[in-house]
Amino acid sequence: MGTAIHLENIKKALGRREILKGISFDVESGDIFGYLGPNGAGKTTTIRILLGLLRADSGKLEIFGQNIGLDSIRMRIGFALDPDGLYDMMTAVENLQYFADIYRVADGGARIDSLLELVGLSDRGDDMVNTYSKGMRQRLSLARAMVHNPDVLILDEPTAGVDPMGQIEIRKILLNIARNEKKTVFLSSHNLDEVQRICNRVALIDRGEIRLCGELESLRQKMGRGGIVIETRGGIPDPVFEVLKKRPELGLHDISGPTLFFTPDEGEADVSDIVAFLAGHGVRIEQAGRREASLEELYASILAEVEK
Ligand SMILES: Nc1ncnc2c1ncn2[C@@H]1O[C@H](COP(=O)(O)OP(=O)(O)OP(=O)(O)O)[C@@H](O)[C@H]1O
Ligand SMILES: [Mg+2]
Repeated sequence: MGTAIHLENIKKALGRREILKGISFDVESGDIFGYLGPNGAGKTTTIRILLGLLRADSGKLEIFGQNIGLDSIRMRIGFALDPDGLYDMMTAVENLQYFADIYRVADGGARIDSLLELVGLSDRGDDMVNTYSKGMRQRLSLARAMVHNPDVLILDEPTAGVDPMGQIEIRKILLNIARNEKKTVFLSSHNLDEVQRICNRVALIDRGEIRLCGELESLRQKMGRGGIVIETRGGIPDPVFEVLKKRPELGLHDISGPTLFFTPDEGEADVSDIVAFLAGHGVRIEQAGRREASLEELYASILAEVEK
């Protein structure tokens, strides 16, 4: 299948600020690739560069092994950005027809019908876009991105501003597009849960740098040891907390309250060791066990690490 998007050491400064500090990752054909990061991380900037709307200062960018300036490559890319660029005073069908004409799509009418069906807007095709909800606009943007039957879709926060039910619908459509229409999907998001639900691969960007990149499954495994959760009755008294701080290999997280969370170094301590240690210091334990860390925790801990 091959590599759909290849980014290598992409740098970009805007004004005096370095916005992208050498970004590299690959999106393979068939991926639903999640580009995660907090606000201001550089997601939209990356996407603008991917689409040729902004020029990188240095680095290498290829789509399907070729330069993005080529018309033949542009025809293989569909995109949806924010703002969505839909024409409010035109109907959905007219909006799609407009783009079908730009891309010189033969038999645009049939294509438009099937796209409206794909995004669940068949019965609203003749309504003006200014009557649409945010979720409907986002779905119409997806249809528009697909008008010329591209191989890869590049989507900047496709569920932004959409209510939870609407988000579920959009995610379903994206899965359908990837699996049944056989498209490669690259989407940015700051919503980890969303990415966890539909993406097979992720990259995490923070302040212009990629902090982590890989298969979702292998990332889960990397942090698979998770941690040890101990619920105490009433928490731990300060002196015990001080003792624990002197044992960094136990990896106590700075949590106040009755629930303690440890991520001990490999081979350093097991649940029973920690329970014994705490009990020896008079801490009353209600429950103890291992738990897989969620991607949410990974995200938080990676972003926190950089803060230090
Ligand atoms: N035209 C510009 N001139 C100067 N700085 C800019 C410009 N556009 C964006 N930036 C800065 O670049 C950084 C990255 O912005 P970008 O829009 O790529 O982030 P993002 O990850 O898409 O964030 P969000 O989740 O809020 O959409 C931000 O600090 C932003 O202020
Ligand atoms: Mg953005």
